[in-house]
Amino acid sequence: MGDLIENKNLVYVCNETDVETNGMLAIEDDQLRPIAVFNLAGVFYATSNICTHNIAILTDGTLEDSIIECPLHGGSFDIKTGEAASYPCEKPLKTYPVRVSDGKVYIDYDQISAESPEFECSVDKGVDNIGDRFLEGPQFPTITLSTGQAFQVNNNDETVLQSALRAGTAFPYDCSSGGCGNCLFKLEKGEVEDLFPEAPGISNYARKLGYRLACQSIPKVDCTIGVELDVKYTPPVVPQKHAARLKSLKVLTHDMYMITLYAESHVEFMPGQYALISLPNNNAFRAYSMSNISNSMGEWEFIIKRVEGGLVSNLIFELASKDTYNIKMDITVDGPYGNAYLQSNSKKNVLCIAGGAGLSPMISILRGASARPEFDDRQLLLYYGGRAERDLCVEDIVSEDSRLKGRVKVVSAVSESSTDVLNKISGEVRRGYIHEVVEKDLWEVLHEYEIYVCGPPKMVEAVQKTLVNKHKLPDKQIHFDAFY
Ligand code: FES
Repeated sequence: MGDLIENKNLVYVCNETDVETNGMLAIEDDQLRPIAVFNLAGVFYATSNICTHNIAILTDGTLEDSIIECPLHGGSFDIKTGEAASYPCEKPLKTYPVRVSDGKVYIDYDQISAESPEFECSVDKGVDNIGDRFLEGPQFPTITLSTGQAFQVNNNDETVLQSALRAGTAFPYDCSSGGCGNCLFKLEKGEVEDLFPEAPGISNYARKLGYRLACQSIPKVDCTIGVELDVKYTPPVVPQKHAARLKSLKVLTHDMYMITLYAESHVEFMPGQYALISLPNNNAFRAYSMSNISNSMGEWEFIIKRVEGGLVSNLIFELASKDTYNIKMDITVDGPYGNAYLQSNSKKNVLCIAGGAGLSPMISILRGASARPEFDDRQLLLYYGGRAERDLCVEDIVSEDSRLKGRVKVVSAVSESSTDVLNKISGEVRRGYIHEVVEKDLWEVLHEYEIYVCGPPKMVEAVQKTLVNKHKLPDKQIHFDAFY
C-alpha cells in the first residue's frame, strides 16, 4: 500500500477481492489517513474512515445499502456522496475518487495528501469568559488552553470538565458520564488520570491521537489542552458542591422513587438540569436530573430508578431503609449541570417526552414553565412512555401538584403488547412506543413546540430519528442531554 502507480496520482489500497460484495474494508497504512473502501454490488467507493461528528472509526459500524452508520452515536453518511444522512452527523464525510484496474483498487493520492486532518480540535474560538476564578489556598493543577487562557482545578478529585464549568468556561459537554463524547479535548501537555478507560464516548483511535474525555479526566499536573469552546455551553448557573442529607423518599412505581435531599444552602438551577450525586465512603458519582425547581428551602428533588447493581441508587435505598433520614452525612450534590433546560426566550408551546426516570427533568421543566407568567398562554404537554402499566406514575405526580394539575395535559402510553398486559390497561393509556404516539397526535403541528426529551437511550434515539430525520425539525428545537 502507499505505492504510486505510474504517472497518476493514484495509490493502491487493496485488491477487489479484499472487500466482499456490499461490504467494507478499513485501510490502515502509516502513509495514509484512515480510509474506508466500500463495494456496493461491484462498484467501489472510498471515504474517510473517521466520523465528522466525533472521532470514531466508521467501518466499526454498520453498512446498509449506501448508508454507513457510525458505531459511536448512530449518526450516518451516504458513502456515495459523503453527505450526512442522519443526526447527529452534520458535516459531510470526505470522499475519494476510486479507480479499479486489474483487480486492484486505487484512490486519488493528491486528494489524500492535500487534506487537513478529518477531525481537528480547533481551540478556544471567540469565548473569553475565563481566568477570573482562581481560588486562594492549596495549589492544584492549572489547565491552560492553547490560546494561553487558564483556569485552576479546585481539588484532587475534580475533573477537567468540572473545573472548566466552575470557572464559567463554555466547555462543550452533555452527560458528564463518559457516554456522549461531547467533552472531547486534546491533551497537548501534562498528565491526567482516566476515570473510565472503557468509556463508550471515545474511540480507541481518538485515544491514540491524544484525545481524552474532560468529564473522566482528573489532571495530575498542570496541563495544556486543545478544545473548541462554544458560547452556547456557558453555564447559566455555575456548578458548586453542596453537602446534603436524605430528607424523604417516596415510592412512585415498582422501581421508581422520588427522593428529596436537603442542603443548607439556596438551591439554584435551570429547570431540566441535573446534578452529580456521590455518597459517603464512595467515590463514584452519578448524574441525576432534578424534578423540582430553584428554591430557598435547600431542597434537591430527584426521580430515580433503582437499577440492579446501581452503585448510587442502591446505596440511597439502603440509607432510606435504615431510617437514616435527616442524619448528617456526606452526600454530595454537585451541580447544576446540563444544557437541556427550559428555553424561556422561546415563544413556542412546550412538549415534554419522557420514559423511565427521564420523567424527572420533564417535571422540572413543566414546573418551571407553569411558574412563569410568560408561559401562561402556552400549551404544556407531557408524553410519557413505559413498557407496562405498572411503569406509569405521571398522572399521580401531576394531580398532586397544584401548579401542574389542570395546566399540563398528560398522555401516557405502554409499548408492551402481550395480551395479558393489554387487558389490564385502563382506557386512558395509549398503546405503542411513545415516539409513535407523539407522531400520531402532533405530526402536523410539531413545529409549534419547543421539544424536551429524556429517557432510555433507545427511546431518545427513536424520538430524534422521528423528529429530525423524518419530520425535518431543526435540531435546535429539540433539547436533550445525550446520556448515551
Ligand atoms: Fe463527557 Fe458526555 S462524555 S460530557
